[in-house]
Amino acid sequence: MSSRQPGQSQFKGIRGSFLDFVGDPFYQSEVESVRYLVDGLLIVADGKIQAFGPYSDVHSEYPEISITEYPGRLITPGFIDTHIHYPQTGMIAAYGEQLLEWLNQYTFPTEQKFADRTYAAEVAEIFLDELLRNGTTTASVFACVFPQSVDAFFEAAERRNLCMIAGKVMMDRNAPDTLCDTAESSYQETRELIKKWHGRSRLFYAVTPRFAITSTREQLRLAGQLLQEFPDVYLHTHLSENVDEVAWVKELFPDCQGYLDTYDQARLVKERAIFAHGVQLTDQEFQRLSETDAAIAFCPTSNLFLGSGLFKIEQAKSTEYPVKVGLGTDVGAGTSFSLLQTASEAYKVAQLRHQKLSPFKMMFLATLGGAKALCLDKTIGNFDIGKAADFIVLDSQATPLMAFRNSPTPSKNLKELADRVFSLIMMGDDRVIQATYILGDLAYVRPDQTS
Ligand code: GUN
Ligand code: ZN
Repeated sequence: MSSRQPGQSQFKGIRGSFLDFVGDPFYQSEVESVRYLVDGLLIVADGKIQAFGPYSDVHSEYPEISITEYPGRLITPGFIDTHIHYPQTGMIAAYGEQLLEWLNQYTFPTEQKFADRTYAAEVAEIFLDELLRNGTTTASVFACVFPQSVDAFFEAAERRNLCMIAGKVMMDRNAPDTLCDTAESSYQETRELIKKWHGRSRLFYAVTPRFAITSTREQLRLAGQLLQEFPDVYLHTHLSENVDEVAWVKELFPDCQGYLDTYDQARLVKERAIFAHGVQLTDQEFQRLSETDAAIAFCPTSNLFLGSGLFKIEQAKSTEYPVKVGLGTDVGAGTSFSLLQTASEAYKVAQLRHQKLSPFKMMFLATLGGAKALCLDKTIGNFDIGKAADFIVLDSQATPLMAFRNSPTPSKNLKELADRVFSLIMMGDDRVIQATYILGDLAYVRPDQTS
């Protein structure tokens, strides 16, 4: 807790039960990693967390402050989606295909529409509304091949003060001509976009080759060159999602050791690299991701929807070769914008592999784990003082069945809390998100709460 600054009218307080993480429950005990305040008070000033602690302690430091109270509600850091495609918002739930056919039949025709800047701007707004309705405050986002699709996205995110990572898809083969750039044009366009957007407001750029199949070796090499020129930008791509995809990559890159090596040879495998899926990774590839401090976006709804397979979360989170992991919805192959639904499917994927994913581990992946995967844990992911005040209010009584199952009073201890969190994950979705705050300001409130 820090001490009171006199006469600061922009200070505001939020009271309720708070859950966040101060460690990684995959490697530390729950008592060490979970922070739970049954009756807590969060003080926000200038969009940042100024103070946080038990209500009785913090309130005496800020006796005059105006407080918004959420009795019986659970307040957590905003959810972090480590992999999602905004141009695919309108084609969610496209029937019947696995990855490569799904791309040809549904995805590429849809992404074609984003040559139109006005259309891209409309979809960006719908997409961001949907993120906030689902309690997602930060995401790592694929735009599409057109630079104007990136401008439209970042402009919309900037207007809402959101912390977002995004980039233009680089794609110079094995896709319709109208969706292809060239190695050189993708380099130049990406360079311009980095200069325009990276580090502006709360926005960060990711160099975004779609996947090894749609990039020539030269395009991947130039992507690596961009990362050398701009060392703090991100790399965001897909990796080892589907068996047919992995076989095709082997044909296209006969002298590479495997799928990850196609990226490694181009110097793309490093800290700040985000690889979506990783369902088919070999032991050596997990080890290489660990050594290089790269991250995996675990996208269970998508991996199930496209029939890609069951991600080995316990291998990624091993003590021997730990890999940073966050959750990704991967909309539109993913079937929900909700990180709660995504965590629920992650749990079932683990069950099918005879593994257990505890409620707190899932909640960690959706918050601080995601922030760590995106190397943003210095500024978001929990309620540490000085971090951005991006948080959400969860209603564990949001439906009649949830109201019947869950007590209206706060959980008294970690055991009760784990049970409540588990019910939120298994039964919850956008309906349990009562409010979403960005930099301490209300950015979304569930319609039944507006009076
Ligand atoms: N691999 C290459 N492009 C895509 C995509 O748009 N979605 C998914 N799920 N995988 C991909
Ligand atoms: Zn994807």
